[in-house]
Amino acid sequence: ILERKVDSVLKLMTLAERVGQLNQYNGFWDITGPTPKEGQAAKKYDDLKKGLVGSMLNVKGVKDVKALQKIAIEETRLGIPLIFGFDVIHGYKTISPIPLAESASWDMEAIRKSAAIAAEEAAAVGLNWTFAPMVDIARDARWGRVMEGAGEDPYLGSKIAVARVKGFQGDDLAATNTILACAKHFAGYAFAEAGRDYNTVDVSETTLQNTIFPPFKAAVDAGVRTFMNSFNELNGIPATGNPYLQRQILKGDWKFDGFVVSDWGSINEMISHGYAKDSKQAAEIAINAGSDMDMESSAYVEHLVTLVKEGKVKESLIDDAAKRILKVKFELGLFDDPYKYCDETREKETVGKAEFQQGVLDMAKKSIVLLKNEKELLPLKKSGQKIALIGALANDKTSPLGSWRIAADDNSAVSVLEGLQNYKGNQLTYAKGADVAAGRTQFIWETKINMKDKSGFAEAIAVAKQADVVVMVLGEHGLQSGEGRSRADLGLPGVQQELLEAIFKVNPNIVLVLNNGRPLAIPWAEEHIPSIVEAWQLGTQSGNAIAQVLYGDYNPSGKLPMTFPRNVGQVPIYYNYKNTGRPVMNEPESVFWSHYIDEKNTPLYPFGYGLSYSKFEYSDLQLSNSSFSKNGKIEVSIKVKNSGKVAGKEVVQLYIRDLIGSITRPVQELKGFEMIELQPNETKTVTFTIDEKTIEFFTAKLKWEAEPGDFKVFIGGSSAKTIQGNFQYSN
Ligand code: IFM
Repeated sequence: ILERKVDSVLKLMTLAERVGQLNQYNGFWDITGPTPKEGQAAKKYDDLKKGLVGSMLNVKGVKDVKALQKIAIEETRLGIPLIFGFDVIHGYKTISPIPLAESASWDMEAIRKSAAIAAEEAAAVGLNWTFAPMVDIARDARWGRVMEGAGEDPYLGSKIAVARVKGFQGDDLAATNTILACAKHFAGYAFAEAGRDYNTVDVSETTLQNTIFPPFKAAVDAGVRTFMNSFNELNGIPATGNPYLQRQILKGDWKFDGFVVSDWGSINEMISHGYAKDSKQAAEIAINAGSDMDMESSAYVEHLVTLVKEGKVKESLIDDAAKRILKVKFELGLFDDPYKYCDETREKETVGKAEFQQGVLDMAKKSIVLLKNEKELLPLKKSGQKIALIGALANDKTSPLGSWRIAADDNSAVSVLEGLQNYKGNQLTYAKGADVAAGRTQFIWETKINMKDKSGFAEAIAVAKQADVVVMVLGEHGLQSGEGRSRADLGLPGVQQELLEAIFKVNPNIVLVLNNGRPLAIPWAEEHIPSIVEAWQLGTQSGNAIAQVLYGDYNPSGKLPMTFPRNVGQVPIYYNYKNTGRPVMNEPESVFWSHYIDEKNTPLYPFGYGLSYSKFEYSDLQLSNSSFSKNGKIEVSIKVKNSGKVAGKEVVQLYIRDLIGSITRPVQELKGFEMIELQPNETKTVTFTIDEKTIEFFTAKLKWEAEPGDFKVFIGGSSAKTIQGNFQYSN
């Protein structure tokens, strides 16, 4: 029926109107790409009235959405509704933790709920499409957009992709509390050389299939309705103009029947890539490659009709793209009621709802990772203590919102200072110490990051001297990561490292709370500071979440979704690396091993790592059988005991290693995890099933299959601390 409805609309449309459905314009105020040329507004309105626009991005709020929808419905010949897209990356106005932080929860239900909150709030302001989730697997912390993804692992990344897609889209796309999700950026964007945003990507097909594609495929299987392609070139062909990615893999092998939007201007950017001579040729390449909607290039609306007339683009390709877009509009229910997302009362009642605040607080607590707690400074005692709170980020109500939170109000987050002030039993004194950045506008440029002002040190030192415990909140400002914010250095920006060392000299009882949008290289802190808490950028409820964890009202349970390097020179560093012909993880006996002469190979904190106020002991790994064959399976179990004093949650992780493969296999790969909760002294047995699906990969035969052979299995509380067993598979 849906197909028939779509066909019946398509039949009424002229070629220009069908091309119009493929055109997406940015609105007139917010921008999320290079500044549009002046004087475009008039042309945009004009095109809108002619039915030459299918979607708008960056228009928000019922009033504005309704006004533009009204033009589409009442002033165009056919009255086809627009879709309204926006980057609802981790919340709309009520901001949840940055996606990398949420991923540290390893809690799929919490992540799903967080996306569902974002969807409900966004849908209430007129939006029906988010450009999320970003499912790019990222191994390079220099790349600023690692904050927006699920980290480095394809298995965890796939589970999170599914949770986010389900959270945004719900079970019913036509409901007014769900929105379209968009799996982006297809593909390879995070593998930019040297971690520099938009840079060249050159990776093998097996890396694409085994590492980069899985979360995209999982999103398709979960029913994601849209995809975004990518700014980068992939093996010499820009992703936007890449038929292998879009036609062969996505729409062919995976049978994706939603639509693909380009990234901002990425069709015309093929000219700068040196792949198209002008906008007309770029449009021809992009549509032929399977890019259905043009975001803000105007290349389609300007050239596709001519290209069809000249025989360079088949009309059937325009029809296919237009049908995909129209179908999604039907699925949203926009043909029944184009104003269904435009209800002022719902907007007022929904935005910033109290229950959303509870939801994002819960997500924020679950996202925190305890990295070190040696002198057991944590949890803080609830009374009788003098606490010094130091660091500009401790008193910042904007930075915790992180990057990609366009609709949130500055100063709308709970600061750490405010969060700690809720605990009245201790004496709390605050000193800034040093800024993270010299100032902020919409963007912070590197020159501003490198600020040198140490005038606040003396006050901070004086405050620290008087204290029993010093809580230092250091790291990156929320706008020092995200798109276009790659970093060449992964230390603490500005003079924060010097501040940390200066305070340590007068009072070593430091709890370091990190706020950052990417893994940082902070080896000095790991060596000297007794307690370290990874608190990322946690959104609107940041300060409350951090305070509750510091005071032990929430026992931290997060695990790192991305490896932390000791040194930026180790990057890209990730847990599922290949062994090489000359492997070494400890001190090498000679130079002829795969190592550095000036740094260890091991990370500062490994993937999957995170402590708790409880203590978990792993023992007794058991395999139900030592081998299995085609269509069979084995079970592997482990005992986990909480030998600590408080109840806590632990993410039990299953890894395997395929010892010999038709292409070389990683030293370990995550293949399962389960979160358990244990009371003090309680022991639970966790069991995982291993079958062909667990061990299959994209082999030298260029297909997904399980290869017979010997395997190792590891279970533990991180990728580094595991107990091992062995099994065989035969087919
Ligand atoms: O969704 C984003 C994309 O991730 C980067 N370029 C701009 C798009 C729309 O804002």
